[in-house]
Amino acid sequence: MTNTERDYHGYTPMDYDADSEAGEVYQRCLSYLLTHAPIERDDTVVDIGTGTGIVALELASKCDHVLGRDINDEWLQYAQEKAAEKGVENVSFDHGSFREPNVDDDVDVVVASYALYMAYDEGGTDELRAAIDGLAALNPRCVAVAEKMRFGPEQTSPDYETLPPMGTVANLLVDAGFTITDIETVAESVGVLIATR
Ligand SMILES: C[S@@+](CC[C@H](N)C(=O)[O-])C[C@H]1O[C@@H](n2cnc3c(N)ncnc32)[C@H](O)[C@@H]1O
Repeated sequence: MTNTERDYHGYTPMDYDADSEAGEVYQRCLSYLLTHAPIERDDTVVDIGTGTGIVALELASKCDHVLGRDINDEWLQYAQEKAAEKGVENVSFDHGSFREPNVDDDVDVVVASYALYMAYDEGGTDELRAAIDGLAALNPRCVAVAEKMRFGPEQTSPDYETLPPMGTVANLLVDAGFTITDIETVAESVGVLIATR
Protein backbone atom coordinates (compact mmCIF):
# COMPACT_ATOMS: atom_id res chain seq x y z
CA MET A 1 0.00 0.00 0.00
CA THR A 2 1.36 3.39 -0.92
CA ASN A 3 -0.75 5.63 1.23
CA THR A 4 0.86 5.48 4.66
CA GLU A 5 1.27 9.23 4.63
CA ARG A 6 -2.37 10.00 3.89
CA ASP A 7 -3.78 12.20 6.54
CA TYR A 8 -7.28 13.27 7.62
CA HIS A 9 -7.13 16.00 10.25
CA GLY A 10 -3.90 14.40 11.48
CA TYR A 11 -5.44 10.93 11.57
CA THR A 12 -4.38 8.48 8.91
CA PRO A 13 -6.64 5.69 7.67
CA MET A 14 -4.09 3.21 8.98
CA ASP A 15 -4.36 4.79 12.46
CA TYR A 16 -8.14 4.52 12.18
CA ASP A 17 -7.96 0.83 11.29
CA ALA A 18 -5.55 0.11 14.16
CA ASP A 19 -7.74 1.96 16.68
CA SER A 20 -10.88 0.25 15.41
CA GLU A 21 -9.29 -3.19 15.59
CA ALA A 22 -8.20 -2.53 19.17
CA GLY A 23 -11.47 -0.86 20.19
CA GLU A 24 -13.47 -3.30 22.28
CA VAL A 25 -16.74 -1.33 22.00
CA TYR A 26 -16.28 -0.82 18.24
CA GLN A 27 -15.74 -4.56 17.76
CA ARG A 28 -18.80 -5.46 19.86
CA CYS A 29 -20.88 -3.00 17.88
CA LEU A 30 -19.60 -4.37 14.56
CA SER A 31 -20.23 -7.93 15.69
CA TYR A 32 -23.83 -7.11 16.69
CA LEU A 33 -24.43 -5.37 13.38
CA LEU A 34 -23.06 -8.28 11.36
CA THR A 35 -25.06 -10.89 13.22
CA HIS A 36 -28.38 -9.01 13.52
CA ALA A 37 -28.77 -6.89 10.39
CA PRO A 38 -31.22 -8.84 8.19
CA ILE A 39 -28.94 -9.10 5.17
CA GLU A 40 -29.61 -11.78 2.58
CA ARG A 41 -27.26 -13.47 0.14
CA ASP A 42 -28.55 -11.69 -2.97
CA ASP A 43 -28.80 -8.24 -1.37
CA THR A 44 -27.15 -5.04 -2.52
CA VAL A 45 -25.98 -3.17 0.55
CA VAL A 46 -24.89 0.46 0.79
CA ASP A 47 -22.35 1.23 3.52
CA ILE A 48 -22.71 4.99 3.93
CA GLY A 49 -19.83 6.84 5.59
CA THR A 50 -17.74 3.77 4.83
CA GLY A 51 -14.44 5.40 5.84
CA THR A 52 -11.66 2.83 5.46
CA GLY A 53 -14.19 0.18 4.42
CA ILE A 54 -13.97 -1.99 7.55
CA VAL A 55 -17.70 -2.67 7.64
CA ALA A 56 -18.08 -2.87 3.85
CA LEU A 57 -15.39 -5.55 3.63
CA GLU A 58 -17.03 -7.57 6.43
CA LEU A 59 -20.44 -7.28 4.75
CA ALA A 60 -19.06 -8.48 1.41
CA SER A 61 -19.09 -12.13 2.48
CA LYS A 62 -22.77 -11.92 3.45
CA CYS A 63 -24.38 -10.41 0.35
CA ASP A 64 -24.18 -9.98 -3.40
CA HIS A 65 -22.61 -6.52 -3.55
CA VAL A 66 -21.56 -3.72 -1.23
CA LEU A 67 -21.39 -0.09 -2.32
CA GLY A 68 -19.19 1.94 0.04
CA ARG A 69 -19.83 5.68 -0.04
CA ASP A 70 -18.03 8.50 1.73
CA ILE A 71 -17.12 12.16 1.27
CA ASN A 72 -13.44 11.55 1.98
CA ASP A 73 -11.92 10.48 -1.33
CA GLU A 74 -8.51 9.60 0.12
CA TRP A 75 -10.05 7.21 2.63
CA LEU A 76 -12.14 5.75 -0.20
CA GLN A 77 -8.98 5.12 -2.18
CA TYR A 78 -7.40 3.42 0.85
CA ALA A 79 -10.53 1.26 1.22
CA GLN A 80 -10.38 0.33 -2.47
CA GLU A 81 -6.72 -0.68 -2.15
CA LYS A 82 -7.54 -2.82 0.89
CA ALA A 83 -10.30 -4.59 -1.05
CA ALA A 84 -7.87 -5.28 -3.90
CA GLU A 85 -5.21 -6.59 -1.48
CA LYS A 86 -7.74 -8.91 0.15
CA GLY A 87 -9.10 -10.02 -3.23
CA VAL A 88 -12.64 -8.92 -2.36
CA GLU A 89 -14.33 -8.28 -5.69
CA ASN A 90 -17.93 -7.58 -4.76
CA VAL A 91 -17.23 -4.25 -3.04
CA SER A 92 -16.91 -0.92 -4.80
CA PHE A 93 -16.15 2.46 -3.31
CA ASP A 94 -17.17 5.87 -4.63
CA HIS A 95 -17.87 9.38 -3.51
CA GLY A 96 -21.29 9.88 -1.93
CA SER A 97 -22.85 11.70 0.99
CA PHE A 98 -25.70 11.02 3.39
CA ARG A 99 -27.86 13.54 1.53
CA GLU A 100 -26.73 12.44 -1.93
CA PRO A 101 -25.39 8.87 -1.75
CA ASN A 102 -24.63 8.68 -5.48
CA VAL A 103 -26.21 5.25 -5.95
CA ASP A 104 -28.19 4.26 -9.04
CA ASP A 105 -28.60 0.56 -8.18
CA ASP A 106 -31.63 -0.93 -6.46
CA VAL A 107 -30.69 -1.05 -2.79
CA ASP A 108 -31.88 -3.65 -0.27
CA VAL A 109 -30.12 -2.53 2.91
CA VAL A 110 -28.35 0.63 4.04
CA VAL A 111 -25.76 0.36 6.81
CA ALA A 112 -24.30 3.33 8.68
CA SER A 113 -21.57 2.64 11.22
CA TYR A 114 -20.08 5.35 13.41
CA ALA A 115 -21.03 7.87 10.72
CA LEU A 116 -24.47 9.49 11.15
CA TYR A 117 -23.47 11.11 14.43
CA MET A 118 -21.30 13.38 12.26
CA ALA A 119 -24.41 14.79 10.60
CA TYR A 120 -25.83 15.62 14.04
CA ASP A 121 -22.53 17.15 15.09
CA GLU A 122 -22.56 19.28 11.94
CA GLY A 123 -26.13 20.56 12.04
CA GLY A 124 -28.15 19.01 14.86
CA THR A 125 -31.49 17.31 14.34
CA ASP A 126 -32.21 19.10 11.04
CA GLU A 127 -29.00 17.82 9.44
CA LEU A 128 -29.53 14.33 10.85
CA ARG A 129 -33.07 14.32 9.43
CA ALA A 130 -31.75 15.36 6.00
CA ALA A 131 -29.13 12.59 6.23
CA ILE A 132 -31.68 9.90 7.14
CA ASP A 133 -34.08 11.16 4.47
CA GLY A 134 -31.25 10.93 1.92
CA LEU A 135 -30.70 7.27 2.84
CA ALA A 136 -34.44 6.51 2.95
CA ALA A 137 -34.73 7.89 -0.61
CA LEU A 138 -32.71 4.85 -1.76
CA ASN A 139 -35.84 2.90 -0.76
CA PRO A 140 -34.09 0.08 1.15
CA ARG A 141 -36.17 -2.46 3.06
CA CYS A 142 -33.85 -2.00 6.05
CA VAL A 143 -31.54 0.62 7.55
CA ALA A 144 -29.06 -0.70 10.12
CA VAL A 145 -27.39 1.97 12.20
CA ALA A 146 -24.44 1.12 14.46
CA GLU A 147 -23.71 4.49 15.94
CA LYS A 148 -22.47 6.75 18.60
CA MET A 149 -25.75 7.80 20.25
CA ARG A 150 -26.81 8.94 23.70
CA PHE A 151 -28.63 6.14 25.47
CA GLY A 152 -30.43 6.72 28.75
CA PRO A 153 -30.77 10.00 30.61
CA GLU A 154 -29.02 13.21 29.61
CA GLN A 155 -25.32 12.98 30.39
CA THR A 156 -23.51 16.00 31.66
CA SER A 157 -20.17 15.42 29.92
CA PRO A 158 -19.59 17.84 27.03
CA ASP A 159 -18.29 14.82 25.08
CA TYR A 160 -21.89 13.69 24.71
CA GLU A 161 -23.31 16.97 23.48
CA THR A 162 -22.35 16.28 19.88
CA LEU A 163 -23.99 12.85 19.93
CA PRO A 164 -27.65 12.46 18.98
CA PRO A 165 -30.04 10.96 21.54
CA MET A 166 -30.94 7.43 20.50
CA GLY A 167 -34.62 8.43 20.61
CA THR A 168 -34.00 11.18 18.07
CA VAL A 169 -32.34 8.77 15.64
CA ALA A 170 -35.19 6.28 16.13
CA ASN A 171 -37.89 8.95 15.64
CA LEU A 172 -36.27 10.22 12.45
CA LEU A 173 -36.14 6.68 11.07
CA VAL A 174 -39.84 6.26 11.92
CA ASP A 175 -40.63 9.62 10.28
CA ALA A 176 -38.83 8.33 7.17
CA GLY A 177 -41.22 5.37 7.00
CA PHE A 178 -39.43 2.65 8.99
CA THR A 179 -40.35 0.58 12.03
CA ILE A 180 -37.68 0.04 14.67
CA THR A 181 -37.29 -3.73 14.94
CA ASP A 182 -34.16 -3.99 17.10
CA ILE A 183 -32.38 -1.77 19.60
CA GLU A 184 -29.14 -2.86 21.26
CA THR A 185 -27.16 -0.78 23.73
CA VAL A 186 -23.51 -1.72 23.28
CA ALA A 187 -22.08 0.93 25.61
CA GLU A 188 -23.27 4.13 27.28
CA SER A 189 -22.90 6.06 24.05
CA VAL A 190 -22.81 3.37 21.35
CA GLY A 191 -25.56 1.13 20.08
CA VAL A 192 -27.33 -0.45 17.16
CA LEU A 193 -30.76 0.39 15.73
CA ILE A 194 -32.31 -1.76 13.03
CA ALA A 195 -35.19 -0.20 11.13
CA THR A 196 -37.29 -2.03 8.56
CA ARG A 197 -40.12 -1.00 6.24
C1 LIG B 1 -15.72 7.44 12.12
S1 LIG B 1 -15.73 7.14 10.39
C2 LIG B 1 -16.58 5.59 10.33
C3 LIG B 1 -16.13 4.73 9.18
C4 LIG B 1 -16.77 3.35 9.08
N1 LIG B 1 -18.20 3.44 8.81
C5 LIG B 1 -16.51 2.50 10.27
O1 LIG B 1 -17.45 2.07 10.94
O2 LIG B 1 -15.34 2.24 10.55
C6 LIG B 1 -16.98 8.26 9.81
C7 LIG B 1 -16.98 8.44 8.30
O3 LIG B 1 -18.14 9.20 7.94
C8 LIG B 1 -17.78 10.01 6.84
N2 LIG B 1 -18.75 11.12 6.70
C9 LIG B 1 -18.85 12.25 7.42
N3 LIG B 1 -19.84 13.03 6.94
C10 LIG B 1 -20.37 12.37 5.88
C11 LIG B 1 -21.41 12.67 4.95
N4 LIG B 1 -22.12 13.81 5.04
N5 LIG B 1 -21.69 11.78 4.00
C12 LIG B 1 -20.98 10.60 3.91
N6 LIG B 1 -19.98 10.27 4.74
C13 LIG B 1 -19.68 11.14 5.73
C14 LIG B 1 -16.37 10.49 7.19
O4 LIG B 1 -15.69 10.95 6.04
C15 LIG B 1 -15.78 9.22 7.79
O5 LIG B 1 -15.10 8.46 6.84
